[in-house]
This record gives sequence, C-alpha cells and structure tokens, in this order.
Amino acid sequence: MKVIAISNQKGGVAKTTTCLNLAAYFTKKHRVLIIDCDKQANLSKNIGAVEPNSSINELFQRKPFDIINVRKNLDLIPSSIDFAGIDLLIQGELARETILKKAIKKFGGSYDFIFLDCPPDMNLVTVNALTAADYVIIPVQASQFSIDGVNIMIEFISGVKENMNENLSLLGILVTHFDERLKISKSIEQDFKDNNWEDALFKTRIRRNTAIENSQHKDNRMTIFEFDNKSRGAIDYGKLGREVASKIKKYS
Ligand SMILES: Nc1ncnc2c1ncn2[C@@H]1O[C@H](COP(=O)(O)OP(=O)(O)OP(=O)(O)O)[C@@H](O)[C@H]1O
Ligand SMILES: [Mg+2]
Repeated sequence: MKVIAISNQKGGVAKTTTCLNLAAYFTKKHRVLIIDCDKQANLSKNIGAVEPNSSINELFQRKPFDIINVRKNLDLIPSSIDFAGIDLLIQGELARETILKKAIKKFGGSYDFIFLDCPPDMNLVTVNALTAADYVIIPVQASQFSIDGVNIMIEFISGVKENMNENLSLLGILVTHFDERLKISKSIEQDFKDNNWEDALFKTRIRRNTAIENSQHKDNRMTIFEFDNKSRGAIDYGKLGREVASKIKKYS
C-alpha cells in the first residue's frame, strides 16, 4: 500500500483534478482509495458524492464513517462542509497530527494506492495528510508559477518529514495549466535548473484543456478518462500515471 498526498497551499493549482484523475488511472490495474481532505469537498462532488451520510469529519472525530464505492476499483472517503471546524476541535489533543495515519493503518490494507486530496492551507489537516503519506506531489500552475511558492511548500514538507514522518518523499512537482505559448511556461524549467531541482520536476506537463473543466461540470461529474479518453487531458494524465508508477518503482 502506497499513500500519495497531492498538496500545495496555493488555491486552484489543480490538486483536486490531479488527485482524481491520477487515482482513476491507477484503477485500471489496482484497488484505489481517495480520501478527500478538503472541506470544500470539490473532489467528492466531482465524482458524484454530493450529500454523503458521513465523511472525513467522522474519521477525524473517531466516529463510525462509511467508505463508499464510486467506481470499479475506486472507493472514496468523502468530505463535507462541516469538516471546516475540525482544526479547532482537535487542536488541544495529544497526537493530533497522527489521526489520519492511524486510521489508514486500520482500513488501508486492502488498497494498493491511497490518494489524499489536500486543502489549499497549511493547517492541521494538511499536516495529518503529510504525516500519513509516503509520497507528496506538488502541482504548480504554470501561469502563476513562483519559485518562492515552491520553496514555502518544500520547507513545510521538510518540517513534517523531520518531526512527524521521516518516511515522506517528494515524488515530484507537477506543472499544470501548461500552455506552451506562454512565456512563463518556458522559464519554469530554467528556474528549476537554477535551484538544482530539475530532478523534482515531472517530465509530464498537464496542458490547459477545456475537456478537464467540462468533465467536472455538475452535469457530468466524470474522470477525464470517462469524459473523453482522447482529450489532451486524458493523454496527459495517462502519461503522468505512467511516470508516477515508474518513479515509485525506483524508490521501492
Ligand atoms: N489542465 C487544466 N485545464 C483547464 N482547466 C483545468 C485544468 N486543471 C484544472 N482545471 C480547472 O481549474 C480549476 C481548479 O482546479 P482544481 O479544483 O483541481 O484545483 P485545486 O488546486 O484543487 O483548487 P483548491 O485549492 O481550491 O482546492 C477547476 O475549475 C478545474 O476544472
Ligand atoms: Mg481542491
């Protein structure tokens, strides 16, 4: 079982899109679970779990919760808006950083991959996700790319690694919303070279593609492979899936 967190404190960089479609890629051959760790519950909605009976909120409060089957080989622990208050609730607890890790230990054994969709925050929930994870993927949006933003995330991850989870590895930084016509898209590579982080950058880029937005529309709520298997989005997320699989193989 491998646990992969998709995280960036920046909003709208395609964390949720990447989490869902990468998970969907791995369902072709593996048993996969997604845990929606974001109170916005975008991922849950995008896969059709709109009003679940229970959510990650119950998990964090150590109450009974459902794991729902959403597709062949794909299960989900959804989120819901009431998860918004969780930071305050668990703040005073001992071991508040390891709630998710311990829960996964109990039910995670039957899955090959568990994907964690993180919120655009550096809060206790994100710390829980990074503490439970073996790997983290940081999506960055090409048009808003800043090396400082990446630095902040990498420092945060190092902090969690040092204090909570020495097992954590940065699987890669993923450029999303890529548009080769944009000047900045070209300079990203140079920025990474200048900072000696070339190896951290995924070779796959996720290009801007309207099929991705349409797949998530409330009339569709599909993965990109279900919505249009021939779209650029499906091609790019397929490529990313293969790159992720080969990177994980190298680690283990
Ligand atoms: N490659 C793409 N091409 C076009 N639109 C995209 C692409 N990837 C994501 N989007 C769109 O960008 C928006 C933000 O994506 P997403 O919700 O995955 O980001 P996020 O990082 O999870 O956001 P948040 O920080 O709010 O959780 C969504 O409307 C999504 O449909
Ligand atoms: Mg999101």
